[in-house]
Amino acid sequence: MLKVEDLEAWYGRSYILQKVNLHVDAGEVVSVIGRNGAGKTTTLRALMGLVAKRHGRVEFEGRDLLGLPTHERYRHGLAYVPEDRSIVPGLTVRENLRLGLLASPHLKREAEIIERLAETFPRLKERLDQIGETLSGGEQQMLAIARALAADPRMILLDEPSEGIMPVLVDEMFELFEKLRAEGMTILLVEQSVDRALAISDRAYIMDQGVIVHESGAAALLADEEMQERYCSV
Ligand SMILES: Nc1ncnc2c1ncn2[C@@H]1O[C@H](COP(=O)(O)OP(=O)(O)O)[C@@H](O)[C@H]1O
Ligand SMILES: [Mg+2]
Repeated sequence: MLKVEDLEAWYGRSYILQKVNLHVDAGEVVSVIGRNGAGKTTTLRALMGLVAKRHGRVEFEGRDLLGLPTHERYRHGLAYVPEDRSIVPGLTVRENLRLGLLASPHLKREAEIIERLAETFPRLKERLDQIGETLSGGEQQMLAIARALAADPRMILLDEPSEGIMPVLVDEMFELFEKLRAEGMTILLVEQSVDRALAISDRAYIMDQGVIVHESGAAALLADEEMQERYCSV
């Protein structure tokens, strides 16, 4: 479904992604793990067209994405939940959800889609008319995920969704990922919470200093303490 070949990215003169290769098949959950600064966020940003200077090949469902602007990638069924959540200040929960729809071909079905999301996210349902940034951290993360799902994507990129969130909400979030996965959603997950990420993943890549240094089945990596020690401790 997603094929990334020799992806390179620069911030100014700093060479960050140094030929990243990875793939995600339809229906898979794949984790990218690695230390702080390894290049995980930059990889997701480059996949969404958010890094100005980049090179290489990104193919999504057979279509070359690299020249496409971010909103076109959403339109093609690829969604992204950034690390900082990007809840728009001053807008209500409902309005934030509407923003997710703007980038999709489904704007006419807005009422129906927001209704459906509210059912999936009971915490948001009670708060549709509350200002988004007044939600708790975990609720904001849920909103960011719901907003990404509003466009009805086939694949979603998640950047450290559990970061700074109460454990009870993290449980809820991972249950949601399980549910999405059961419904056929393809997921590329970046997580510091390695055990949790691997528990719901089919495969995993380890990233270090801008390259993929290891690929394996999630269960095998979960059992490989030495590999985790070497590349995953912060
Ligand atoms: N906006 C930026 N400008 C310059 N350097 C950056 C910027 N964002 C990240 N970097 C650098 O790029 C490298 C990779 O960062 P990042 O992709 O955020 O890593 P990770 O998500 O794995 O922690 C780090 O060395 C970081 O300092
Ligand atoms: Mg990051």
